[in-house]
Amino acid sequence: MKSYLEVAKQLAHEAGEIAMSFYAKNVESDIKKENPHNIVTEADLACEKHIVEGIREAFPDHGIIGEEGSSFNEDAQIKWIIDPIDGTTNFFHTHPFFAISIGVMDGNEIVAGVINCPKLDECFSASRGTGTFLNDEPISVSGVKTLSTSLLTTGFSPNKGSEHFKKTMHVFEHILKDCNGMRRAGAAAIDLCYVAAGRADGFIEYGLNSWDIAAGVLIVKEAGGTVTAADGSPIDIFNRNIVATNGKVHDEIIEYIKQL
Ligand code: IPD
Ligand code: CA
Ligand code: CA
Repeated sequence: MKSYLEVAKQLAHEAGEIAMSFYAKNVESDIKKENPHNIVTEADLACEKHIVEGIREAFPDHGIIGEEGSSFNEDAQIKWIIDPIDGTTNFFHTHPFFAISIGVMDGNEIVAGVINCPKLDECFSASRGTGTFLNDEPISVSGVKTLSTSLLTTGFSPNKGSEHFKKTMHVFEHILKDCNGMRRAGAAAIDLCYVAAGRADGFIEYGLNSWDIAAGVLIVKEAGGTVTAADGSPIDIFNRNIVATNGKVHDEIIEYIKQL
């Protein structure tokens, strides 16, 4: 039988090919939850359908949570958490930063995660206890030790009137002045991979969903990083906020946020 990671990798690659078959071809889109800033495309739906069918075939008893509405057996011990395209706005506008994200959870722990960026030709993967890989080469977090020398990333909820959006803007406005720089890629899954690869030193966002971060949490941890909630408590992927860092700047960032 194939491992969870092998199945996740295969499905993330196949979904990447599906996404690329729609990329830059005037893809059809629709708005979600009456929010004109939150869109879904026909490619998101096609990718999720393919991934869900593949999981159901390989592991019919497992639970599934997919951003575009897939929900099976959510109380199962093993759950697959899928963002069929993270960075849909980028994808729609032909910006290359988008990814297929698949995380596998056993109880409360993520045990396998794959984030495939098909336009960038980069696939990040991790399974518990075996490290993080970028296109099958091991990667690790950066050695940066202070907030003032850190390159940070963030993202903003599509619900622009929400408390989560305001909270992220508030942190952004302040911390931008005290770090080396900040970037906004438009895909939380890629933000997490970039912390894992040492391309950024920390990532902070409020208002995320489990599918945005399930795979990325393990990818950062297995690369030697630290992931918690924004108040420093243990990460709960259903709790909507996250701070993920190289570990060396984690406490300084959490203390910084607490005093805002
Ligand atoms: C979004 C991206 C973005 C983040 C938003 C997410 P989507 O996911 O991850 O970077 O800032 O909060 O909703 O809608 O592109 O899958
Ligand atoms: Ca997402
Ligand atoms: Ca998505």
